[in-house]
Amino acid sequence: MSHNTFGHLLRLTTWGESHGDAIGCVVDGCPPGIEITEAEIQTFLDKRRPGQSRYTTQRQEPDRVKILSGVFEDEAGKQITTGTPISMVIENVDQRSKDYSVNKDKFRPGHADFTYTQKYGIRDYRGGGRSSARETAMRVAAGAIARKIVPGLNVRAALVQLGPHEINRDNWDWDQVEQNPFFSPDRECVQSWAAYLDGIRKKGSSCGAVIEVVATGVPAGLGAPIYGKLDQDIAGALMSINAVKGVEIGAGMAAAALSGEENADEIRMGDDGKPEFLSNNAGGILGGISSGQPVVARFAVKPTSSILTPRKTIDAHGNETEISTKGRHDPCVGIRAVPIGEAMVALVIADHYLRHRAQTGKG
Ligand SMILES: Cc1cc2nc3c(=O)[nH]c(=O)nc-3n(C[C@H](O)[C@H](O)[C@H](O)COP(=O)(O)O)c2cc1C
Repeated sequence: MSHNTFGHLLRLTTWGESHGDAIGCVVDGCPPGIEITEAEIQTFLDKRRPGQSRYTTQRQEPDRVKILSGVFEDEAGKQITTGTPISMVIENVDQRSKDYSVNKDKFRPGHADFTYTQKYGIRDYRGGGRSSARETAMRVAAGAIARKIVPGLNVRAALVQLGPHEINRDNWDWDQVEQNPFFSPDRECVQSWAAYLDGIRKKGSSCGAVIEVVATGVPAGLGAPIYGKLDQDIAGALMSINAVKGVEIGAGMAAAALSGEENADEIRMGDDGKPEFLSNNAGGILGGISSGQPVVARFAVKPTSSILTPRKTIDAHGNETEISTKGRHDPCVGIRAVPIGEAMVALVIADHYLRHRAQTGKG
């Protein structure tokens, strides 16, 4: 049984463990002729990379991506995809397996240690092995390619809630997202978030976060009834990210509290002669098919489970014990999940774009 592949026409397979020699992926089904360089992919990986501020883990993983296949120089000297499988690799260079060896028989609460042992009878205790979010680096690399498959597609994400503290949506400014260590679109919350997270970090504790992903330039018509809905696939893709415990599309959970008048997005003809929706509670998707409005998804990330405070647990022999984590961990993994969310949404949209083109002949 293999579950390391994602997508239909655009297929991503990832491999590797957090403390192995390297992690890697194969992106299959990418059309030929798409310009892409390692440097371009690297810019997205650098957003996810740890050790960039005091709010992320101090592990120093340079996450240097290398393209091994599927990209070739064209006559003009540009690096373009050839239509063959694109293979990429990142070496693991800052593993400290020692950090994990003292607790190797203990099941870390909130981690997959217990369930992996139940399922496989063996687990790589060094950093969680395959269950580690190290794997998500390859999703980000693949997402950089996916973004270029759909002409005009722009997928961006921002942190809209840190622990219990939400942004003021009236202050939303995309230009701010790259200007602060939280990927917050609201400049005004940055100082208070910094103080809050410093407190959390000093206590050796952790907090969760909510991330919003917005994709613009999504053509109408992507997604398919009945089991290939765009929102269904986006939800699944976001839920597959480590530590994600909730996903919503458009108005999401809050739609339940709206009236029919408030919720259904009314339609008018715009000045440009094109249909115009007067609101976007649907998050750009109706009947599982994109409407041409921005696709909006949010996901909630749980607090980092590895914390300094001792926690009750058991070991592999059934003994009750305690565990606290001395390794280097993010006080809020939601921050580094921002580029991962973008990548997963880009991958789903690109896959559906290719599927739509294959079925209808429309590009
Ligand atoms: C970017 C990223 C980095 C993560 N780093 C850590 C970490 O340093 N420590 C930790 O306890 N959990 C971390 N996690 C979460 C765990 O990988 C995850 O909670 C664990 O594998 C159990 O899976 P589940 O939470 O999806 O059930 C990280 C998650 C993401 C998205």
